[in-house]
Amino acid sequence: MQNSTGLFISFEGIDGAGKSTHIEAVAQAFEAQGRSVTRTREPGGTPLAETLRQLVLNDPMDALTESLLVFAARRDHIQRVIAPALAQGRVVLCDRFTDATFAYQGAGRGFDLGVLQTLEQWVQSSGDKASALLQPQLTIWFDLPPTVAAARLVEARVPDKFESQPLAFFETVAGGYAARFVREPQRFARINANQSLHAVREDVMAALAAKAFLVGAPGA
Ligand code: TMP
Repeated sequence: MQNSTGLFISFEGIDGAGKSTHIEAVAQAFEAQGRSVTRTREPGGTPLAETLRQLVLNDPMDALTESLLVFAARRDHIQRVIAPALAQGRVVLCDRFTDATFAYQGAGRGFDLGVLQTLEQWVQSSGDKASALLQPQLTIWFDLPPTVAAARLVEARVPDKFESQPLAFFETVAGGYAARFVREPQRFARINANQSLHAVREDVMAALAAKAFLVGAPGA
């Protein structure tokens, strides 16, 4: 299930890190260079996965149930949206992917990382152990101290199940992202999100240019 011609980029960070603001700018930068872009998100991106998203974000459940639902949503999303788009050579910009499961369900909720790895292998490959995992070529990680993110969230919309968690939860989730970064530093671009919007945007564009995904990136 490895993508051959397209470009798969995910965007990650704790709630309040501000990632969503920058995805549209990245999409426009790719489109300005003649690329076709698919903007999508997790959990979600298909009718089934959006239905699962509502359950995960609003209904109380144990961490295993939550993990199974986010991976079920991911499987449908990969099969119906991500893999076909990559096969067509499109740029797929995904607001969260599997790193969020390791950060939120794994670190945040303390769920078994080994089980998550097994689910990851099942969901993001053709099923057999030998086949390659579908992973983003680049993960843009908006790294922000949880105290700053919490202050931003206070002014935000009505909080969902995760957004209403205490600060200690987000400190653990942030640690989960850091652990993913340490495991695969070459896949990640760590962005200091504790800066002005403009400075963060410049850093995001610079990370894309550094990978030669964008040439002479606008806004950089
Ligand atoms: P969003 O508000 O950035 O769209 O993210 C939805 C929420 O879902 C966010 O609080 C993180 C959470 N989430 C998980 O707990 N596990 C996952 O695998 C994903 C993709 C998101």
